[in-house]
Amino acid sequence: MTEKNYRELDAAYYMPAFSRDIMITRGSGSRVWDADGNEYIDCVAGIAVCSTGHCHPHVVEAIQKQAGELIHCSNLYYIPGQGELAKRLVGITGLGKAFFSNSGAEANEAAIKLALVRTGRKEFVSFIGGFHGRTCSSLACTHKPAIREPFMPLSPPCSYIPYGDLDALSRAVSDTTAAVFVEPIQGESGVIIPPPGFLKAVREVCDDHGALMIADEVQTGMGRTGRWLACEHERVVPDIVTLAKGIASGFPFGAIVAREGLAFGRSEHGSTFAGGPLACATALATLDVISDVLPLVEKKGDLFAGLFSDLAPRHRGLMIGITIGENCGAVQKACAERGVLVNCAADGNLRLVPPLTISEDEIRLAAGTIRDVIADICHV
Ligand SMILES: Cc1ncc(COP(=O)(O)O)c(C=O)c1O
Repeated sequence: MTEKNYRELDAAYYMPAFSRDIMITRGSGSRVWDADGNEYIDCVAGIAVCSTGHCHPHVVEAIQKQAGELIHCSNLYYIPGQGELAKRLVGITGLGKAFFSNSGAEANEAAIKLALVRTGRKEFVSFIGGFHGRTCSSLACTHKPAIREPFMPLSPPCSYIPYGDLDALSRAVSDTTAAVFVEPIQGESGVIIPPPGFLKAVREVCDDHGALMIADEVQTGMGRTGRWLACEHERVVPDIVTLAKGIASGFPFGAIVAREGLAFGRSEHGSTFAGGPLACATALATLDVISDVLPLVEKKGDLFAGLFSDLAPRHRGLMIGITIGENCGAVQKACAERGVLVNCAADGNLRLVPPLTISEDEIRLAAGTIRDVIADICHV
């Protein structure tokens, strides 16, 4: 298919909810190729999804094997890999039980339902700049007015407070709060890292009022920051963790893991596709690969961020944000033209979330290009 074909088909038949340019047709490791055969180092990785790189052989083998045995059967039956995957996620999080979904927003919907049904309370607290998804309830807990307000009224009721503001937090949480929804690092806002002690304070305020702490680790989880969970950096254990993105190498998959005693009862939640055999096999293979590369993630992140030290980068592991400002879009476009995919998150913040498997040579190569582009466009 030529570039003209895919642009025409998209314009004629696909709802115009995205702005996009390139068509990616192939990937291997940290590289992707477009429809015209141009090669890129991928520092977007499907927005922190392709944690094991593109088409990792162990993941591909697991998908192929499972696809040849059983693709789907329904949660009416025990599902191969489901219990084993739940056990591994419980081990990783130190929590009690897992439940699966098909996306990050769906994982957050499940967390909201669990908080509603187990606390009997209706109100939520979340943070300005936070992003929790685009389904109606996850959107209700997402502050950004531009994407939320067109769909009002939404439920559950949620108050939004400044990220990192402990006074506002204590004022907002009360004995009628069902849960506080928090990203350990705000991803869509552009890798915003809260002050040290903030997550611990969220934990304490929740405990004081019998509210649940829900850590949305959809973007920060599964090794992205150099630990399985970003909450581990602060030694904080939430009541519920939500996961997706990097958990299954790009196969649609999400999960909630909740502390012992906090679980859905029979018929309280469900999904046709979630936790199917193919998804579980893919996630299990992904966990194998992440286990192998996790010890190197912090070092690689330090190297990558260190190559931008004069631009005051924010980072934990391979989750890096650099404030560029109004030229961010131009930087993103020029980087792509020179063979590096990067992404502008909110407020002119460049976000670098490459595969966890990226090599140090690829990091140096990508950083060199990004630096050249920033110098050319921003004159710094
Ligand atoms: C922190 C966070 N939560 C939830 C979501 C929603 O995930 P999904 O797009 O898989 O529904 C995202 C997506 O960017 C996210 O970054």
